[in-house]
Amino acid sequence: MPTLFVTGANRGLGLEFVRQYRAAGWDVIATVRESSPELEGLGAEIRTLDLGDLEAVSAARAGRPLDLLIANAGTYGPRDAEDAGDAQEWLDTFAVNTVAPYMLAKALLPEVREAGGKLVVVSTRMASLADNGSGGFLAYRSSKTALNMAWKTLALANPELACVMLHPGWVQTRMGGSNAPVTPEQSIAGMMRVIEGITPAQSGAFLDYEGQSVPW
Ligand SMILES: NC(=O)c1ccc[n+]([C@@H]2O[C@H](COP(=O)([O-])OP(=O)(O)OC[C@H]3O[C@@H](n4cnc5c(N)ncnc54)[C@H](OP(=O)(O)O)[C@@H]3O)[C@@H](O)[C@H]2O)c1
Repeated sequence: MPTLFVTGANRGLGLEFVRQYRAAGWDVIATVRESSPELEGLGAEIRTLDLGDLEAVSAARAGRPLDLLIANAGTYGPRDAEDAGDAQEWLDTFAVNTVAPYMLAKALLPEVREAGGKLVVVSTRMASLADNGSGGFLAYRSSKTALNMAWKTLALANPELACVMLHPGWVQTRMGGSNAPVTPEQSIAGMMRVIEGITPAQSGAFLDYEGQSVPW
């Protein structure tokens, strides 16, 4: 039975990752700040991990070979961080969205190597410099752009592993809001297909949930 380690599993996309990987017969380690009744019933091994606690992130271990890491958890942070008054919130957003996923991948790397596994991070099209026609959301955008650079660097350092960044679509979660056109079920089913198909040769790619390249 393959093993998945996924962060932010109490709600939104993380919860749906757990639901669909469990339905596919995977062993799932699901991390949360606080669990939820929806997660409790899915048969995952639930662990507490606050991504703002970088010491705890660096100390994380699966305890067994890991076929797949999905660094999913993320935060919008302040909606506008355009003056120094928001500097600390901006830094906090970087800790959760950029530094923590990378440190988590580094911490779990030996177990991923053991399984010849895959390293996936949930990024966003809003990280794209080329696609940024509307501005705003400075903390979120910049933290995810930096995340992409970190993950691409991780891919180059580990050429034997498949290591990709995924844009989930604009999805109906607390972050995406109710106007989003994509359901969590559709997004996760799409990302699972993409993850299943990726090889080390595609490592470093930035893909959406339908497998299309996202511009940097
Ligand atoms: N929905 C979209 O349209 C969309 C589009 C592009 C990218 N994304 C990305 O998709 C990922 C999942 O987002 P979502 O749409 O599922 O949003 P969501 O429903 O708001 O869920 C966010 C998840 O991240 C967790 N999280 C936030 N800060 C954390 C921290 N410090 N430590 C641990 N967990 C933390 C939350 O846990 P708590 O409940 O404890 O806060 C929650 O589980 C994010 O990386 C997001 O940037 C989403």
